Amino acid sequence: MAAVLVVGKGGREHALAWKLAQSPQVDRVYVAPGNAGTAREFENVPIDPLDFESLISFAQERGIELTVVGPEEPLCKGIVDAFQAAGLRIFGPDRAAAQLEGSKVFAKELMREAGVPTASFQVFDDPADANAYLDTIGNKPVVVKADGLAAGKGAIVCETIQEARAAVKRIMRERVFGDAGNRIVIEERLTGEELSVLAICDGSNLVRLEPAQDHKRAYDGDRGPNTGGMGAYSPTPMVTPELLEEIDRNILIPTLHAMRRRRTPFKGVLYAGLMLTQGGPKVLEFNVRFGDPECQPLVMRMNSDLYELCNAAIDGRIRELPDVAWDERWAICVVLASEGYPGSYKKGLPITGLESAESAAHVKVFHAGTAIKDGQVVTDGGRILGVTALGDTLPEAKRYAYEAIRKIKAPGAWCRHDIGDRAIRWLMDRAGV
Ligand code: AMP
Ligand code: GLY
Repeated sequence: MAAVLVVGKGGREHALAWKLAQSPQVDRVYVAPGNAGTAREFENVPIDPLDFESLISFAQERGIELTVVGPEEPLCKGIVDAFQAAGLRIFGPDRAAAQLEGSKVFAKELMREAGVPTASFQVFDDPADANAYLDTIGNKPVVVKADGLAAGKGAIVCETIQEARAAVKRIMRERVFGDAGNRIVIEERLTGEELSVLAICDGSNLVRLEPAQDHKRAYDGDRGPNTGGMGAYSPTPMVTPELLEEIDRNILIPTLHAMRRRRTPFKGVLYAGLMLTQGGPKVLEFNVRFGDPECQPLVMRMNSDLYELCNAAIDGRIRELPDVAWDERWAICVVLASEGYPGSYKKGLPITGLESAESAAHVKVFHAGTAIKDGQVVTDGGRILGVTALGDTLPEAKRYAYEAIRKIKAPGAWCRHDIGDRAIRWLMDRAGV
């Protein structure tokens, strides 16, 4: 029996720990540093995800067979290289491969080289050049992106040239994202439905997971500021098997091959953030890890053994495994957020009603920003919980998730009320209702 270490502290990491613990080969799960949910179900280890030395010592002392990394920052900073150098098994891309998320310029150039459809773009390292370029394109809507990691806030979607100029100024002159803004990408703004497609890769081959849709804006009707994600559901009815095959053929596989050709083979989760445009699916961004909250509905529906999948990816034998098996039901995750999120918010407020919310077998409350203080579960982050439910239909999954989230009380906490609605409307239109 194996011991597993999950690195991170959000809803995604609770979901990964929960899923890995279901493997018949796993008997112990540790989460570093974890949250109140992982403390109750598994064992938390108070080590920061960027303290590789302490994580490695812990993994060696406890005989950890597999480490799974949730967030992008340790991946981009080389946690996989450090573990491998110490002879430890770890699931995720090494530092060179993690550039696919860590540098927008790297990702865009790789896509150009591999012929992967994406918004047309230009790269700048001087704000004057960027502004001169903006003068040449008229009032076309663009997106200005910091090259480096910016906690999901590095893409500024602009309506007008004035907004684009202001974005260049914020990133390159005011340096709001620090060194992440030394270079920028200015790209064509795309329109359409957004979709997340994730695949587990072993360097040469991949298995695609079922598609999921995130809800990035804070408020109902996709209004308000961007967030880490306010909810997600899977599968996505608007996506046909043919479209998924096109995504495999034109996006995922060429990306994996291009990474291998560059001698930075990609092992781990390749997450393609896509826009389904009139001209077909195009890549908005790559991430090199599970999405949060997309991970939550995905693991609720995954029947295959995630421990087995991660090991096969590490050993380069993903092709030997049977296809990933999925629960046919629908899953929805609704995020409960702190008052003020995605701006500033208070921490340490009491959360009640968790047990009652989780009493149904088809509901799982994944903790995100929670902690335990004097024996009480309290808020500890902007996204507090991801209440995730399975249902035979999408409206049923939605009803279960919202019935459960209503039982949870925390001062000022709120959620979006329309998670999954676009898909429900689409299904109703198709059925002629
Ligand atoms: P990114 O950090 O690149 O994922 O961008 C964050 C969000 O900005 C995406 O989820 C989209 O909603 C939006 N976005 C990014 N690039 C574009 C684009 N080229 N056109 C339209 N929206 C975009
Ligand atoms: N939910 C979006 C992300 O994980 O990047």
